[in-house]
Amino acid sequence: MDLLNLDVTEPPAPRTRSKLLIVDSSDTNRCALKAALGELEHEIVEAASTSEAISAISFHKVDLVLIDSVAPELGGAEFCRMLKKATATQFLPVFVIAPCEDIDNEVRAIEAGADEFLTHPVHPRAVRARIQASLRHKAMIDSLDHSETVLFSLAQSVEERDPSLGQHCQRLALMAAAMGVNLGLPPQEVLALQRGGYLHDIGKVAVPDYILFKPGPLTPEEWEIMKSHAQRGERICSSMRSLAPVLPIIRHHHERWDGAGYPDRLKGEEIPLLARILQLADIYDALTTARPYKPAFSSEEAAQIIRSEAERGWRDPKLVIMFCDLLPMFRTHTPPDVSRISLNALAESIERYRKTPGSIQRSSAQRSSDELKRVSGL
Ligand SMILES: [Fe+2]
Repeated sequence: MDLLNLDVTEPPAPRTRSKLLIVDSSDTNRCALKAALGELEHEIVEAASTSEAISAISFHKVDLVLIDSVAPELGGAEFCRMLKKATATQFLPVFVIAPCEDIDNEVRAIEAGADEFLTHPVHPRAVRARIQASLRHKAMIDSLDHSETVLFSLAQSVEERDPSLGQHCQRLALMAAAMGVNLGLPPQEVLALQRGGYLHDIGKVAVPDYILFKPGPLTPEEWEIMKSHAQRGERICSSMRSLAPVLPIIRHHHERWDGAGYPDRLKGEEIPLLARILQLADIYDALTTARPYKPAFSSEEAAQIIRSEAERGWRDPKLVIMFCDLLPMFRTHTPPDVSRISLNALAESIERYRKTPGSIQRSSAQRSSDELKRVSGL
């Protein structure tokens, strides 16, 4: 899933010529529907019963199904339920069409997972618009890599376990990507940073709640389990080749510049740059967010703590300076939807920000909010 280029304001267009399957035992009904859909110039496949429809779906690459609510054998609702249960067809849009308004029929169809419930006679313009909307949605789902989608959902579920995190991953993705652009990293590394924002703690899915949310200090054994989230996360994502650039971030985001971190006690520049970048964003966000055991530090206080950690040899000193220079861009409580960020918008915003003299000193909330809006391209 290409988060940087995923523009939710412009959903992907459906294939210019999609395949629509009409399932109805009545020739007259099928002809009427075909006439109504004529202007769309999609390919129409016909079936007179649900068993014919199953053959048609497996033979043709059907993009949408329009089925009569009383189609022979299974009927529209039951056929729809069957399609929605099967992995291969769960995202195939299904429109159930009934001979007349009938609330019981409608409820049955919707409960079976139907995307639309229509009644005869269908209004040609309305049905065409609904078909196009469903095909656009399907095109977007088709464009996602299923396994990646599952992983990102898993990462989100980790975040949702802890309500105090809020939109932690989203903020991290934004900050890390902005740092990457500011450092002039190539787009694929910026994308890795953005994905790392979401996936870095995915290994916590294997850490039990009694450890993750323990109010007091962890025992040495519990601490070992907690620390294992870095390697576990790497293992979870390692089967996906497209996530290879993100693996060093996941594994090494808790290393320390002086070699006292985990899991590999890497030191200085042995720690992958992308992991060092994400770590600073992670620390800053943890400091500036209220948690059950601590209040939120101000941005200035957080920057001071990070600078003092660099002086103690814990963090990359050059990176800390660059990060603190960028901080006025991040000061906001309403992070934008990262899926809307375009790499170009991010780069242009940082370029403008760099050219603004005295930007570090001018840190009013309004200015920060404006900057972030520009970063997000909103
Ligand atoms: Fe972590």
